[in-house]
Amino acid sequence: MKDTTAPLHAPEAQTGQDEFAQAVLDGLRRNPKAIPSKFFYDAKGSHLFDKICDLEEYYPTRTELGILRSHAPDIATIAGSDATLVEFGSGAGVKVRLLLDALDTPRAYVPIDISRDHLLASSAQLDADYPALRILPVHADFATPFEVPRMASSNVVGFFPGSTIGNLTAEEAVSFLHVAAETLGKGAGMVIGVDLIKDRDVLRAAYDDREGVTAAFNLNLLARINRELGGTFNLDHFAHRTVFNEAHARIEMHIESTKAQSVTVAGLRLSFEKGERIHTENSHKYTVSGFSALAGRAGWSVRAVWTDEQDWFAVLYLERLDG
Ligand code: AVI
Repeated sequence: MKDTTAPLHAPEAQTGQDEFAQAVLDGLRRNPKAIPSKFFYDAKGSHLFDKICDLEEYYPTRTELGILRSHAPDIATIAGSDATLVEFGSGAGVKVRLLLDALDTPRAYVPIDISRDHLLASSAQLDADYPALRILPVHADFATPFEVPRMASSNVVGFFPGSTIGNLTAEEAVSFLHVAAETLGKGAGMVIGVDLIKDRDVLRAAYDDREGVTAAFNLNLLARINRELGGTFNLDHFAHRTVFNEAHARIEMHIESTKAQSVTVAGLRLSFEKGERIHTENSHKYTVSGFSALAGRAGWSVRAVWTDEQDWFAVLYLERLDG
């Protein structure tokens, strides 16, 4: 039965305004300039990301959804009954419904997200749609250790879709998977979506769409700095750029200054040369064997792998090696 005495709320995240200010000032003083991609996701950024997921060029969302639709029953068989599902970076909460609908009497759903408004909105909707399920949202940065609410189930399954793991470097990904193994506990499983290496033009188009939604998503970071940190960026004088970095098998997003200019952020004056870039995101692409080896370094073994017809995307079921 649902615990109706507990209001739907999310414990405060450690990530606040100070962390944003610090990261931006540190990143813009560095050479080359860089700001971590997790700061894309204010309310506007989260909304733009939802729009990206619907774009023709952005294949990961629909491809992963197709795999989950086809294989949710297989996932449910491995997960077993009475599972508590812990989702890292819950977003709009669409994919998890496919799992919740397939799982045998899921006990609880713990969505973890850095965007508080987004988290509470999607949790409220799920709460209304799944009356028998306990929904326990956690407002946190999933890449740093956090405490998962005490749960009624010993059968804990992590869910990390969208190839969000690709936004971490390999070392960060290993450390995230280590932390996730600790957080989820002995015997845990993990369903994880991983974007695969493919034709460069397909990759580039996915991050530089014709409508300019990804450009708006990238440049919104400057708008956020203006709004929250008293920045003076003129968005007309900066442009969205993407490159595929072959050595690291990753798409990189950058913001390029289209002229020599200076900008003030939180009282700090910064100068930009024409063509100078701020590195804003890495999106690593993997092979199934490469990702399996990485997961192995973090204490996970691969129980199952599902891909689409074109081998563009993979969903893996990982199990803790000591499980
Ligand atoms: C959230 N993450 C997996 C997306 C990606 O594909 O790396 C973020 C994104 N950036 C631009 N488009 C989508």
